Amino acid sequence: MPEFQTSPGMRDILPPESARWRRFVDVFAHVAQSGGYGQVMSPLLEDLGVFQRIGDATDVVSKEMYDFVDKGGRHIALRPELTASICRAFVQHSPQVPWKIWYTGSMFRYEKPQRGRYRQFDQVGIEVLGADDPNLDVEIIALGWEFYRALGLQQVKLVVNSLGEPDDRARYVQALKAHFEANLEALSAESRVTLEKNPLRVLDSKREQDAPLVASAPKIAEFYSEKAATHFAAVQAGLSVLGIPFTVEPKLVRGLDYYRHTTFEYQGGTLDSAQNALGGGGRYDGLVEALGGKPTPGVGFAMGLDRTLLACDDEGVFAAPSPSVDVFVVDTTGGAEALRITSELRAAGLSADRAYENRSMKSQMKVADRSGAAFAVIVGSNEVEAGTVVVRPLRAEPAGPDTASGQAVVPRSDLILHIRKATS
Ligand code: HAM
Repeated sequence: MPEFQTSPGMRDILPPESARWRRFVDVFAHVAQSGGYGQVMSPLLEDLGVFQRIGDATDVVSKEMYDFVDKGGRHIALRPELTASICRAFVQHSPQVPWKIWYTGSMFRYEKPQRGRYRQFDQVGIEVLGADDPNLDVEIIALGWEFYRALGLQQVKLVVNSLGEPDDRARYVQALKAHFEANLEALSAESRVTLEKNPLRVLDSKREQDAPLVASAPKIAEFYSEKAATHFAAVQAGLSVLGIPFTVEPKLVRGLDYYRHTTFEYQGGTLDSAQNALGGGGRYDGLVEALGGKPTPGVGFAMGLDRTLLACDDEGVFAAPSPSVDVFVVDTTGGAEALRITSELRAAGLSADRAYENRSMKSQMKVADRSGAAFAVIVGSNEVEAGTVVVRPLRAEPAGPDTASGQAVVPRSDLILHIRKATS
C-alpha cells in the first residue's frame, strides 16, 4: 500500500469520471443562466463567525466544521456550505436586488464517511436575495426540477414544507418540546439528546422506537400565521400551474437552522434513506440580517454532485463521456512531425493526441486505437518526402474511395480541410 492516500471521506475524481463532473456543472450553468442567474465564485475559507450565524444548534456548525487559527491569529473555517458565504458577500458588496446567483464548488464537513456522504463533497446551487415573492420559490424549485430532468433522472421526488414565520416556528418548537417531554421515557436516548439541542430535529429520527411519538407530534400547519399559510398556498399553487408533482411533508425540517417559510428537498429513488437527499433548500429571510446586513429575504437550494451522480449511476443515466480526440498522430520519423501536426490541428480547433518516445509503428497504432480517436494521421519518411500524410479512419467501417481500407493519402497542406470535412 502506498505511504500516502486520500484522507477518509476525501476522493480523487479521475478521468474519465472528472469529465462527467465538468459536464454536470455545464448543464447546471446552462439551466441557471437560462433563468438570468450569474455565477459567484467565493473563497473556500471564511471567518468562522460567518458559519456560526447559520445557528449553533446545527450539527454542521457545532460538530462538523473544519476550523483552525491561521498565521494571522484569525479563526477560520473551510466552508461547509455556501448560503452563508453568499449572504456575507451580499452584505459586503451591496449588489442590485434581486440578486440572482449560482455557484459550484467543494464543501467540507467532518461527517462519518459512507456511500453518498463524504467530508469533501461538491455542490451546485442558486440563491436569490432581495425578493419576497412565493413565485420566486416556485421558480427556484422548478429550475432544480428541470435540472434533474436534463440529467435524465426519472425517480426524483419533490418534497415541500413550510416552517412558517419565526414566531410560528418558535410556538411550534415549544409545542413539540412539550409533546416529547411529556413522553420522554418512550423516546430513544439519542432523540432525548437531540431534544435538548433542537426539538425540530427529533422529527428527522429514523429510529423505530421514536416512530409513534413522531407520528403523534403536533403538525407545523396548526401554527401558521395567515401570512405563512398564504405564502405556502401560493407556492403549492405555482408548482401545480407548472405541472411539477410534489408531496407536502410536515416533518421536513432540514438540517440547517436558518429556514423559515418554504423548505424543500429533492429525494432520489435509489439511495439509502439517510443519504437520499440529492438537493434541498428553502427561504432564509433572516440570514442576511444575522450577518450584519439590512433585513433581506433570501431563497435558494444546493444539490450534491457526488450523491446526484450516484443516483445517475443507479438509474443508468448521464454516463461519463467517452474520452476521445478527433485525431491521433503516428509519426515514425522521430517525433518532430507529430509535434508540428498536433500543434496545427489544435490551433485549427481540432483535438489531437500523439505517441511519445519514438516507438514502432505497430506500438503507436495500438495507442491510437485505444485513444478512441476518429482518425489516425500517419507520417513516415516517404510521406515527408512527398509532402503528404496518410489519414486512416479508426472507428468507421472502411468506406473511403481512395483505397480498400478507407485510408486516404492527403497533401500535407490539405490535412485540416480533409479532417474537417471527414468529421462534419
Ligand atoms: P444541505 O441540505 O446541507 O443544504 O446540502 C445540500 C446537498 O448537499 C444535500 O442534499 C446533499 O446532496 C449534499 N451534501 C450535503 N452533505 C453532504 C456530504 N457530507 N456528502 C455528500 N453530499 C452532501 C445546504 O447546504 C444549503 N446551503 C442549501 C441551501 C441553499 N438552502 C438555501 N440555499
